[in-house]
Amino acid sequence: MRSQSVPTSQLAGAGRNIAVESRESVAERDSRRDRRWNAAAYHRVSQPQVSWGKKILAGLRLRGDEVLMDAGCGTGRLTGELLDALEDGRVVGVDISENMLAAAREHLRPQFGSRIQLVAADLAHLPFEQTFDGIFSTAAFHWVPNQKQLFLSLWHALRPGGWLRAQCGGARNLARLRRRIDRLGTTPRFAAYLAGFPTPWVFHNAEEAAALLVEVGFRETETNLDPALTVFDDAQTYSEFVRTVIVRLHLERLPDASLRTEFVDELTRQASTDDPPFALDYWRLNLSGSKPA
Ligand SMILES: C[S@@+](CC[C@H](N)C(=O)[O-])C[C@H]1O[C@@H](n2cnc3c(N)ncnc32)[C@H](O)[C@@H]1O
Repeated sequence: MRSQSVPTSQLAGAGRNIAVESRESVAERDSRRDRRWNAAAYHRVSQPQVSWGKKILAGLRLRGDEVLMDAGCGTGRLTGELLDALEDGRVVGVDISENMLAAAREHLRPQFGSRIQLVAADLAHLPFEQTFDGIFSTAAFHWVPNQKQLFLSLWHALRPGGWLRAQCGGARNLARLRRRIDRLGTTPRFAAYLAGFPTPWVFHNAEEAAALLVEVGFRETETNLDPALTVFDDAQTYSEFVRTVIVRLHLERLPDASLRTEFVDELTRQASTDDPPFALDYWRLNLSGSKPA
């Protein structure tokens, strides 16, 4: 994992080194897996995520000089918007995927210079202590398997009085597509590779998310779910989106390109019969809370 120029005074304390070392092997393994995001394709197809994220950004009440984290910043499309909203502040974009960070660097550095810093890290094991005035995050938390560790790690990274405003996939997210993926994964063509593959996402309902936030120490918490049905123009845009964003890890398990194409084509064919066709039944979970001052 590439290192970052974060002052060592902000890194986790030396007393936690043994635990950090054993956890890093997990983070490194996950990092290798997450290198496989196709960052160029994600940058191109992520308009749904950008529109949802812009609504969260619009609700932030910023002074303009904060130090903020964009947690799971991806290729930085929303990180740039966050920087635009901060006159004198700085943003640290954190992501586990080197591919995504490389795209974000290319996209953000020319415009924002030293106001943007990009750090490769697992959100569940962040190398920060009391560093940020606020944490913004969109479309990332549901990819993190250990949710309690995730929220604890975010809590540690916040300064006293700091805030969290985030959105990710929530309960019922993509329920129809997930049923189809599971069914297809048990058919003779795919079962050898996908049967028993655990779901790569965690989708909480509002109550579960609030309980987790409170358990790790957040106060003034608010959580709620929003439906976000997303309709694509045609089979091609639908299938490129599903391939790039949703079934990325399923496709990795298939041994060749023709089987991967067959998997996405069958999901696309099924979506063509829906009313409206080529629609994804997204549900977004909004989360906010603050760390007592
Ligand atoms: C769907 S993208 C969202 C990117 C961006 N926030 C947006 O809304 O366009 C999810 C991002 O979360 C990152 N991610 C997933 N698990 C992570 C983890 N454990 N630690 C850090 N980043 C993670 C992925 O690498 C990916 O860049």
